[in-house]
Amino acid sequence: MAFPASFLDELVQRNPIEEVVGSYVSLTRRGSNMFGLCPFHSEKTASFSVAPDKGIYYCFGCHKGGGVINFVMEVESLDYPDAVRHLAKRAGMTVPEDQHHASTYKRQERLWKLCRDAARYFHTCLSEPVGAEARAYIEKRALSRGTVTRFGLGFAPDSWSGLIDAMAKLGYEKQDLIDAGLAVKGQKGGIYDRFRNRLMFPIIDLRGNVIGFGGRVMDDSTPKYLNSPETIIFNKRKNLFALNVVKKSKQGFIILTEGYMDAIALHQYGFDCAVASLGTSLTEDHANLIAKYTDKVVLTFDGDQAGQNATQRAISILEKTGVQVKVLRMQGAKDPDEFLKKYGADRFRLLLERSENHIEYRLLSLQSQYDLQQDDQRVAFLKAASELVASLNSAVEREIYGARAAEAAGITSDAMKLEVNRAFKRRMAQTRKKEQRQALQPAAQQQPKARSIHYDNIKSAMAEERLLSALVREPALFASLQGLSGGMFSSSLLGRAYDALQSMYLQHLTPNLSALDGASFSSEEMAHLSMVAGKGDGPVNHAAFDDYVSTIRAEFARAQSQQQPDLMAMRERLRQQKGYGG
Ligand code: UTP
Ligand code: MN
Repeated sequence: MAFPASFLDELVQRNPIEEVVGSYVSLTRRGSNMFGLCPFHSEKTASFSVAPDKGIYYCFGCHKGGGVINFVMEVESLDYPDAVRHLAKRAGMTVPEDQHHASTYKRQERLWKLCRDAARYFHTCLSEPVGAEARAYIEKRALSRGTVTRFGLGFAPDSWSGLIDAMAKLGYEKQDLIDAGLAVKGQKGGIYDRFRNRLMFPIIDLRGNVIGFGGRVMDDSTPKYLNSPETIIFNKRKNLFALNVVKKSKQGFIILTEGYMDAIALHQYGFDCAVASLGTSLTEDHANLIAKYTDKVVLTFDGDQAGQNATQRAISILEKTGVQVKVLRMQGAKDPDEFLKKYGADRFRLLLERSENHIEYRLLSLQSQYDLQQDDQRVAFLKAASELVASLNSAVEREIYGARAAEAAGITSDAMKLEVNRAFKRRMAQTRKKEQRQALQPAAQQQPKARSIHYDNIKSAMAEERLLSALVREPALFASLQGLSGGMFSSSLLGRAYDALQSMYLQHLTPNLSALDGASFSSEEMAHLSMVAGKGDGPVNHAAFDDYVSTIRAEFARAQSQQQPDLMAMRERLRQQKGYGG
């Protein structure tokens, strides 16, 4: 949704970036900028910068950046409108909501409240006479009192309307219960409770809202787990069980499990960094969510074939986000819950420490694809393995994993070394060629980091970048720019930013990157613009400023004239085709 520009302007003014960022990151001033450890990737030296005068942040390590709204989106995992609402609340402002969005949001708020009240009801039932069987089951599964409280576990009585009646007393309508997925419409138009006679696991999102439930039977009946259906507040592909708790973990890694019970057991045994997917396989949204909180993930899926396939899939999805993936293998238990109960936390910690990085895991998987008793298969395995090992950057690692592959195939590690070295040299030669090609076109180095943004005319784009940076520092310069418009920029992104800033200036608002409309600029684009604005510092050199303007105008004119002959030739051809004379 679009918020009025004047509202965004005030919002940004009343939420100084150094204050907002400062409540998450400790910042030290260096000159006009402030530096701190980046909250978006793990680092030991501060490469995360905030420029209070420009209202932007930028990380030189992970290239994230933007204005104060982007920061809140990123750090709180909120979408644009919610980040705006968050900041409005912080500054005590009311949000001018657009009609449609306001009504959806109101509806969501109602369902969040209903789900919270439902969770309270289930939790209360657990300690009442009706919950005796559930309490026995909890004891059988060895869940502690603390665990039950921390995860807000509850019990849905064996009744068709226990929840419906309790919620009616609190003023909820039937439709509310249906929309929240808590009740189901029957054939004759009546409604009944969806969850009956089940142990209830509330699913809580990152903002602390209860958004849905998983309910487990307490015997062998099916389905074992019943989950809330997709609703306007519950999306399985975007949420993970227990991430709201893990968000505060100091472990520095996340354990990804397949089951609610596994995540809960891990927490109870002191591993407060375990999450579970919600009965679906891992999605890209899940992976991106995880990557926001950690750069290390340990996969602990079931040992069966389905679990192995899920592991391979999860590795490739997670790797795309740049997190380091390890795989934990268990023996003697089918899942972490069972393992912990059988062998205890210390043994599990040992497994964690020994968990295979994905190279080991991939070597083993590769190995299982070949019959190493047969010579031709052994050769094929060694070829594939040496390629895999050669992809490692450290010589020590190549040595270790090379030796391991050699051992598996029953050849000497010297022979393997030779093979790996050959593969490694081939790779090096390829990279060198690629680098040489890049060096021949230095312009390529000026290209934006984000792959979705490309400069067609580097010369003009550099002038455009510097112009924008200067205008953010000294908005009064807009007055001297009559006739210059974003359409004349070679980069459409920089052009759009120019137009947006200019329109703020013309509306007598402060041209500020932070107040750019999040609906028109993606977070990748905002990060890039933030880097651009961060390039210049201090007072604007006015002679240089005039140069930027002339360059942009000249390059625009040149582009136009290059199109001109084409146009004329085309017109000429048309004229001839249609048989018009001269
Ligand atoms: P599991 O069958 O491995 O269950 O399913 P679990 O978590 O180990 O639970 P216990 O130990 O038997 O009590 C793994 C996950 O798959 C989803 C649930 O999210 C579950 O935690 N699932 C499983 C369902 O959604 N529905 C089902 O019927 C079964
Ligand atoms: Mn289990």
